[in-house]
Amino acid sequence: MTAISISDQEYRDFSRFLEGQCGIVLGDSKQYLVRSRLMPLVQRFSTVSLSALLQQVISGRNLELRVAAVDAMTTNETLWFRDTYPYTVLADRLLPELAALKRPIKIWSSACSSGQEPYSISMTALETQAKRPGVLPSGVQITATDISSSMLENARQGIYDTLALGRGLSLERKRAFFEDAGNGSMKIAERVKKQVAFRPQNLMGSYALLGRFDIIFCRNVLIYFSPEMKAKVLNQMAMALNPGGYLILGASESLTGLTEKFEMIRCNPGIIYRLK
Ligand SMILES: C[S@@+](CC[C@H](N)C(=O)[O-])C[C@H]1O[C@@H](n2cnc3c(N)ncnc32)[C@H](O)[C@@H]1O
Repeated sequence: MTAISISDQEYRDFSRFLEGQCGIVLGDSKQYLVRSRLMPLVQRFSTVSLSALLQQVISGRNLELRVAAVDAMTTNETLWFRDTYPYTVLADRLLPELAALKRPIKIWSSACSSGQEPYSISMTALETQAKRPGVLPSGVQITATDISSSMLENARQGIYDTLALGRGLSLERKRAFFEDAGNGSMKIAERVKKQVAFRPQNLMGSYALLGRFDIIFCRNVLIYFSPEMKAKVLNQMAMALNPGGYLILGASESLTGLTEKFEMIRCNPGIIYRLK
């Protein structure tokens, strides 16, 4: 065995550990992924080999290591205004409709990664207020959560490099909602940031302390979970929504066979769900 090899048994044990911690199902033959994601931790935690590191992670005695390992195994791919239609539907339909509540509209971005999703929601709300004065008098309150502490830290900082800025952001929005942060990076403007509160939340845990929402974004995270875990998350989200609240999934995700608690709404383009 070399310092970077892992046995089939270690892989199986780690896969079980990971699913138990955060719901992520690795499946067969993802040894390469475990190796590439966890090797940096071998040095950081002064362990002799990947195999030894896995044993320590699974034994759970070192909390910092356990958290770092789960964090490293998350896939944080994201972009601004991802798939466009959720933000068009939000601006044209959901925000004007929910404004009738005459209180701040509460939105949960439930797997927010480095912040692009909640900040895109915040920018959409500000654009709606500017374009249609009076339509959103009480504004929005966005709660943005993720299991990854490193992603939450990046999101709170709100500083993005050229590569991140180039993914889904128009020049117009860059000018309106960002400030220069040097070296080609830009910082999200305070008026966008102040509508968003970031906090850690494992979707496997209880959502009771988060409160209730009018809209939940649960995008591109269910794909990593088993059908049982997906159903559990969706049923808990149904309980976290106000009556008639909306759920927005990723473009390739659906509720089929998972829960009966929502009705489908076709928006052309895109599909969203409303609590029955
Ligand atoms: C691919 S990103 C999606 C980001 C964003 N929603 C989007 O669509 O662009 C998936 C995110 O889900 C988070 N995640 C994975 N498992 C989670 C769990 N059990 N609880 C909360 N967040 C989780 C990851 O840390 C990651 O940031």
